[in-house]
Amino acid sequence: MCGIVGFVGEENAAPILLSGLRRLEYRGYDSAGIAVCNKVVSVIKEKGRIDNLQEEVNKENPQGTVGIGHTRWATHGIPDKTNAHPHKSMNGIVTLVHNGIIENYLEIKNDLIAKGYKFKSQTDTEVIAALFENLFDGDALNTLIKTAEKLEGSYAVAMLIKGYEDKVFAMKKDSPLIVGKGTNANYLASDIPAILPYTRDCYIVNDGEFIEISKDEIKVYDENGTQKDCEIKTINMSINSAEKNGYDYFMAKEIFEQPKAVHDTVSPLIKNGKIVLPFEFPENFIKELKRIYIVACGSAYHIGMAAKYIIEDLARIPVTVDIASEFRYRNPIIEKGDLCIFVSQSGETADTLASLREAKKRGAFTLSIVNVLYSTIARESDGVIYTNAGAEIAVATTKAFSAQLGVSYILASYLAYEKGLINNEFLKKFTDEILCLPEKINTSFDCDKITKKLAEKIKNQEHIFFIGRGIDYPLCLEGSLKLKEISYIHCEGYGAGELKHGTISLIEEGTVVVAIATDDSLYSKMVSNIKEVHARGAYVIAVVKESTKGIEKIADEVIFIPETSRYLTPSLTVVPLQLLAYHTTVERGLDVDKPRNLAKSVTVE
Ligand code: G6P
Repeated sequence: MCGIVGFVGEENAAPILLSGLRRLEYRGYDSAGIAVCNKVVSVIKEKGRIDNLQEEVNKENPQGTVGIGHTRWATHGIPDKTNAHPHKSMNGIVTLVHNGIIENYLEIKNDLIAKGYKFKSQTDTEVIAALFENLFDGDALNTLIKTAEKLEGSYAVAMLIKGYEDKVFAMKKDSPLIVGKGTNANYLASDIPAILPYTRDCYIVNDGEFIEISKDEIKVYDENGTQKDCEIKTINMSINSAEKNGYDYFMAKEIFEQPKAVHDTVSPLIKNGKIVLPFEFPENFIKELKRIYIVACGSAYHIGMAAKYIIEDLARIPVTVDIASEFRYRNPIIEKGDLCIFVSQSGETADTLASLREAKKRGAFTLSIVNVLYSTIARESDGVIYTNAGAEIAVATTKAFSAQLGVSYILASYLAYEKGLINNEFLKKFTDEILCLPEKINTSFDCDKITKKLAEKIKNQEHIFFIGRGIDYPLCLEGSLKLKEISYIHCEGYGAGELKHGTISLIEEGTVVVAIATDDSLYSKMVSNIKEVHARGAYVIAVVKESTKGIEKIADEVIFIPETSRYLTPSLTVVPLQLLAYHTTVERGLDVDKPRNLAKSVTVE
């Protein structure tokens, strides 16, 4: 979703702002713009890709060492040049960019229109600029505080203010914002990758804080305008993660980075056959634990579903899995002593964050599984397990998903062990098997060739179905989401027993059905389900373990995955599903990394 960059230094700001915006492209956007201050503020913005903006910037060649930039993912108003940020207030007092949603914008807008203010755009953002100008008393900080008091909703805002031409100001609530500390230069950004080439020293801005940066100073103020300490953290993130390294797309690179992502995530959590968590549960918490909620969105929700199968089977604790946007509003029954787990790659997903706050308020112990260091969900949870997958750029998640699976296995076995349901020997064998996964994922890449061939075959399909049972069912949902979100082919994932309760009516001659059947105990049931769709003309692609015999007789194509514990198969099953989605999308000539309308980090609800 929207991205913010800001710069104050000695060099020309425009190229630095543009390079920062390019590093945020992965978040998803539909217009972009910059504002550069050189006594007066010039604003350049364009609809569409940053290349369009770059062309305009090259023409106008704005000079100035202070500036702000933005990539916009439209919410209020269509994606066009007028609605793109930055927005300058009517009399030019302030020029600003904004991430988030101002919920009371209409009320403020109508009030200001009545006072004679003229608006140019349909955005909620322009209202912040207008309000600031309306309240401006000559003191930037004072006016910022008064503006914030009137705003409802979420925001990270970066601003250029008249009379303060050598500074950038910022404020935030419920939308991420960081300050980067450089040498003779300081930076602002919504996300760390934007400023990684310049600095790793960052201040993570908290809700309700106001920021003033000049080229050699960072000032942080609280809600009363009192200056606070500014604790700089050094971010240990590889700049390489944000490069394609010879791959055509980030998604391909990230698929093939999965062995490392899983290794880097699970190996710090396993020591001598035992699980070592990076946080502590309260005393007796696990012994008395009666209920677990797992809350997440998108692919992370599928992780919750897979984790439910493993935790319930191994640790015998009931698990409820919820979509965060439902959980937060459904008045869930949560009591002290419950464990609520939040899974999020970005650590900033608005609904997941709101659910975390709700669960905390109700007394649960909150644990998050998060990829982005110091993200809001990570900072606000009682415990956090980081997936060390590195920066994930492609909108469709792959390596973060695999790393999250790794953490699910660790947690399930930890809970089972602490409850005395598995012994040392089982745990040692299980954790050894987890540690073998990176090697086995490597072996699963052998299916690259067959998935490429299959992609050519399925690329013109209108509908594709994924069916599976047990732990293969959440993988069907993930395989289906992966393929539909990037290839735009309509896909559906089903528990294999459920297909005949309605949607089997859509199966006709040549309809592609991907049947995942990795669980021996459910294999014969899957064979029946495959036969049912085959009898109705389906073209069946089966995903099974290497040891599966006779499957070639009932499926049209077979993809074999390496053997592992039945709890751990998702890590290997997911690989052909990701590759199928990737190759099909390439075959259809679409932008694999930036599917239409989607955003990587969904910071609005
Ligand atoms: C977006 C992404 C998905 C992701 C979901 C949750 O929809 O496109 O890939 O699974 O958000 O994001 P999170 O950062 O919380 O994992």
